[in-house]
Amino acid sequence: MTRVFSGIKPTGHLTLGNYLGAMRRWAEVDQHRSEALFCIVDLHALTVDHDPARVRRLSRQAATLLLASGLDPERCTVFVQSHVDEHARLSYLLECVATDGEMRRMIQYKEKAAREQQRGGSVRLSLLTYPVLMAADILAYGTDEVPVGDDQTQHVELSRDLAVRFNQRYGHTFVVPRATHPKVAARVMNLQDPASKMGKSDDSGPGIVYLLDEPEVVRKKVMRAVTDSGRDVVYDRQERPGVANLLEILAACEGKDPEDLSGAYASYGALKKDTAEAVVEVLRPVQARHRELCADPAQVEAVLRAGAEKARETARPTVDAAYRAIGLLPA
Ligand code: TYM
Repeated sequence: MTRVFSGIKPTGHLTLGNYLGAMRRWAEVDQHRSEALFCIVDLHALTVDHDPARVRRLSRQAATLLLASGLDPERCTVFVQSHVDEHARLSYLLECVATDGEMRRMIQYKEKAAREQQRGGSVRLSLLTYPVLMAADILAYGTDEVPVGDDQTQHVELSRDLAVRFNQRYGHTFVVPRATHPKVAARVMNLQDPASKMGKSDDSGPGIVYLLDEPEVVRKKVMRAVTDSGRDVVYDRQERPGVANLLEILAACEGKDPEDLSGAYASYGALKKDTAEAVVEVLRPVQARHRELCADPAQVEAVLRAGAEKARETARPTVDAAYRAIGLLPA
């Protein structure tokens, strides 16, 4: 059976981008057709300036939202990265296979390091080695597929390279994984700046729809989305990025094709109105279930505890095999 692994980082409130690019597919498709693990990658949240209490709060919130979005603990494993030591154990071995140059070429490293420096902060070493820990997340589970938005493509490629290199040097140990992306909304853009991704760690509130935004707030943000200078509704990501983004969001919410949808609109106003309502409707059941789960935090904790147990059992044989293959004495 196909093994699927994916993760989400508790560095901010989860967004519509996280939902349409990743979470919704995990719940609707991946958990039904594969042996699937979904992880709140809290160790990754420590790679940039962070507040410990906020990371804890956001980790709990991410877990609750994953369950609210439809992940069913009977069908898949939901857990927190730091509860399973195998991630950090394997990460070190992979650091002995990865190179400094490879790390410095990572687009997200370059962007985030530049941002930290602009803020006057220093760059944590863990930000540089972030992709190695991510490779460990994936490779520890013998993962075949990694369902992600397209901003994670380069990181998954690196995981593939490290798996192949390790296997060639030390004998076959890891499955070589591949990224999968949704057909539409693989990169949801910021509503106020359609040239940038809608990211949860960004500061520009009005351009980001959060999963827990009230319907009125969602409507306001979508209605105020920046559109392009033309008037007609055409789907062109290069020339009309603002309108294309709205068409993609609407198409993803309604399970349609953005190109087909463009023909149905004569004005930006009508497109925005329908997009706002579609987003409100997609978020409604997630928010309702989230409220229920918040009333029962013990249930979420029990899921995470059982998830960690199962994840540990799944990862340990592969990580132990990697320790032996690379030349370490068995304990
Ligand atoms: P993170 O936490 O930034 O995002 C979680 C998932 O949401 C997707 N995503 C988007 N998709 C479409 N449009 C957007 N605007 C958008 N924003 C985010 C991301 O592509 C991702 O699928 N490095 C990862 C976390 C991670 C991971 C892993 C993922 C750590 N280890 C192992 C997969 C496998 C990250 O920062 O995701």
